[in-house]
Amino acid sequence: MYPQSRGEQSTQELPAVSANGSGDGSVAIVRDLHKSFGSFQVMRGLTLEFKPQAITTILGPSGTGKSVLLKHMVGLLEPDSGTVEVFGQDIWKIHERKRAELRKRFGVLFQDGALFGSMNVYDNVAFPLRKHTDMSEAEIREIVMERLKEVGLEAAVKKAPNEISGGMKKRAGFARALVLNPEIVLFDEPDSGLDPVRTSLLNDVILKVHDDDKGTYVVVTHDIRTARKVSDYVGLIWQGRVVYYGAADEAFSSDDPFVRQFLSGDSVGPLGMD
Ligand SMILES: Nc1ncnc2c1ncn2[C@@H]1O[C@H](COP(=O)(O)OP(=O)(O)OP(=O)(O)O)[C@@H](O)[C@H]1O
Ligand SMILES: [Mg+2]
Repeated sequence: MYPQSRGEQSTQELPAVSANGSGDGSVAIVRDLHKSFGSFQVMRGLTLEFKPQAITTILGPSGTGKSVLLKHMVGLLEPDSGTVEVFGQDIWKIHERKRAELRKRFGVLFQDGALFGSMNVYDNVAFPLRKHTDMSEAEIREIVMERLKEVGLEAAVKKAPNEISGGMKKRAGFARALVLNPEIVLFDEPDSGLDPVRTSLLNDVILKVHDDDKGTYVVVTHDIRTARKVSDYVGLIWQGRVVYYGAADEAFSSDDPFVRQFLSGDSVGPLGMD
């Protein structure tokens, strides 16, 4: 259906999730996802298996369904058809309560997911721990300060979101997304609006935290340098489908016309504006 790398099986031909619910080690698989808003078809049969413990970068033109894909993965949007399997479970075949439990195993940095404006940086990062755990404030403090240190924000703990720069907000959102030690981390354009140096620094943080904590990461980005730096695997999405998927080194040297056009930013090629 679309080019594969390293002789991988097409994700469309993957064996069914095993009966013990382990999903054969799969962490997240989206199969044949369809979704329309009104008469507008956004997801048109998207299939993608995310490799456990790897960083998969999702590239694709604006409006092509990248954020909608992430919202399906975390269970905020329900597919019209197709499935989203997380830790071997079809998330729309389980009880709402169980779905909410699964959600706690995700760390999410949404594209527009700003910080809570009424809380300072510290309280923003502490929020998931206060909401989802019964840790003491002392325990919470230890984790929050460690996370804030990782992203270089210890000095900004008392600042309100409107008192810090765009890059600092991103880093605070990043710390908040990671505070529960999530097994799956979804970043929707962690680098948007950042200058090249800050983007590079944020990418270093992504790699370092991934190295320390492991986890299955999905990073949506428009920044080719980010993709080159952090990806183990690359998926290119266009019009609600995966038009290319492969290991990063192969993706960046691929002759695939979709990939070539996207990487070069060429206006001529299979990727159109519609
Ligand atoms: N809740 C919604 N209701 C109606 N339409 C929606 C909704 N969410 C997304 N869409 C539409 O679905 C399409 C895909 O949106 P999505 O946000 O996934 O794009 P994207 O690939 O993330 O783009 P960008 O790179 O600009 O962030 C867009 O046309 C958008 O307007
Ligand atoms: Mg988006």
